[in-house]
Amino acid sequence: MSTRSTISKKAAITDPDQGPAPGRKRMTVPDFMARKGGEPLVCLTSYTAHVAHICDDVCDLLLVGDSLGMVIHGMPNTLGVTLEHMIMHGQAVVRGADKTLVVVDMPFGSFEESQEVAFRNASRVVKETGCHAVKLEGGVEMAPTIRYLSRRGIPVMAHVGLMPQSMNTMGGFKAVRDEALWDRVIEDAKAVEAAGAFAVVIEGVAAPLADRITEEVSIPTIGIGASARCDGQILVFEDMVGLMPRVPTFVKRYGTMEEMMRAAVGQYAQEVRDRSFPGDEHTYKKK
Ligand code: KIV
Repeated sequence: MSTRSTISKKAAITDPDQGPAPGRKRMTVPDFMARKGGEPLVCLTSYTAHVAHICDDVCDLLLVGDSLGMVIHGMPNTLGVTLEHMIMHGQAVVRGADKTLVVVDMPFGSFEESQEVAFRNASRVVKETGCHAVKLEGGVEMAPTIRYLSRRGIPVMAHVGLMPQSMNTMGGFKAVRDEALWDRVIEDAKAVEAAGAFAVVIEGVAAPLADRITEEVSIPTIGIGASARCDGQILVFEDMVGLMPRVPTFVKRYGTMEEMMRAAVGQYAQEVRDRSFPGDEHTYKKK
């Protein structure tokens, strides 16, 4: 890849403190909230500056999800992700995006212990990355923490339904389909709304449950494996472009990046072996 990245065309990569390039307005938390019931909110995960740059023109929100543990670092789940991982990738995404709202996930173990610990870690994420909000998993039990953070200047996106950080207590990644479990998820969504979350991710629930929550809460609902009637949708970028081998039911592949990359690597290997690369046009001439 060229070291003179196209990202630099949009100033933000060099200095996030300068704000959006002229003529570009950054989506704010109030702008995002105002879209409740309106034009669907387009959200994707992003972990790197270049992907953030690619998504920035068309997305409303980029989430630096802790799914980066599995997608980028090859972990079996998200439990091993650290605050340092989130900060490093958060910095990269903030450098690459000057229009979208950038939200960074709080990793497992960084917010559950107490409201004070949550504030200490979340404020570190905001200070060190320049992101605009954090996301944390949990409903009723995390509502006091969400209230504590949002009243102290840190907007919080909540996450209910299937919560990957609770995989050990839930017995795996299990979608909430059984109607007997719906009330708990509705209670969770209402609790985070009342606590001041500016939006809520609803993951892995039966579509009618997501529809009910979307109707009953006043904040935007962002679905993943939920329902087309949510106020917005989010997918993991690498799932969506076809870079991950596993395709869960809720993922639609909009691209075939893995095949393209395999073909490119294969051709490169062949050309190195038969010495057709580098060609004349890729070598420096004598002065
Ligand atoms: O970590 C993540 O990527 C997420 C999204 C799937 C919502 O939480």
